[in-house]
Amino acid sequence: MSDTSPHKPAPHSRKAPPPEPLVDPIADHPSYDETETFVGIWGHPIHAMSVAFPVALTFCTFGADALYWLSGDLFWARAAVWAAGTAFLFGLLAGLTGTAELLLVPGIRIRAPAWTHFVIAVMLLSLLGANWGYRLQGFEEAILPYGILLSGFNVLVVMVTGWHGGKLVFDYRLGTSKGN
Ligand code: HEM
Repeated sequence: MSDTSPHKPAPHSRKAPPPEPLVDPIADHPSYDETETFVGIWGHPIHAMSVAFPVALTFCTFGADALYWLSGDLFWARAAVWAAGTAFLFGLLAGLTGTAELLLVPGIRIRAPAWTHFVIAVMLLSLLGANWGYRLQGFEEAILPYGILLSGFNVLVVMVTGWHGGKLVFDYRLGTSKGN
């Protein structure tokens, strides 16, 4: 007998069973809410404190390059190579504390956006290292045109990295204290 027989309700009038509740294996993980900082001072993540240095020095490198371009003053070429080197070295330090948080805090390790931030940040660190290394062969000649172009690009990448890091803290509350 076909399903459309008058003794059976038409298929479209059958009551659908209630949908199974959706399962999110990440949100259901027991350590999902374990997001407090591990590498911190009294609950304040050292990573968040240390990122200000590479961010500021990346901008300084571009500023010194631009002032060298405008003035031709060797002082700015020297300032740029120092800013590029310290941006890279402080960036590595910030990267170490960030990586420790990522690997050691289960609620950070389990979230995909934390790994996205890691990938963007490692790309930034390689660009900062390239900008410094390129200048070590001759810090004045390196600036025009490739040094300043790289510095300008690094400013864009550091802005994306910093914005995304802020998203981890302000949207996902990673590294923050639970207030107890
Ligand atoms: C290389 C590996 C890195 C990893 C694994 C990493 C991971 C993290 C994590 C887990 C947070 C949340 C706060 C915390 O728990 O400390 C964070 C925040 C942040 N990160 Fe990174 N990070 C890395 C590198 C960097 C670099 C190189 C920069 C920029 C130069 C950067 C910029 C930021 C910023 C701006 C925040 C937000 C801080 C705040 O709002 O107070 N990160 N990062």
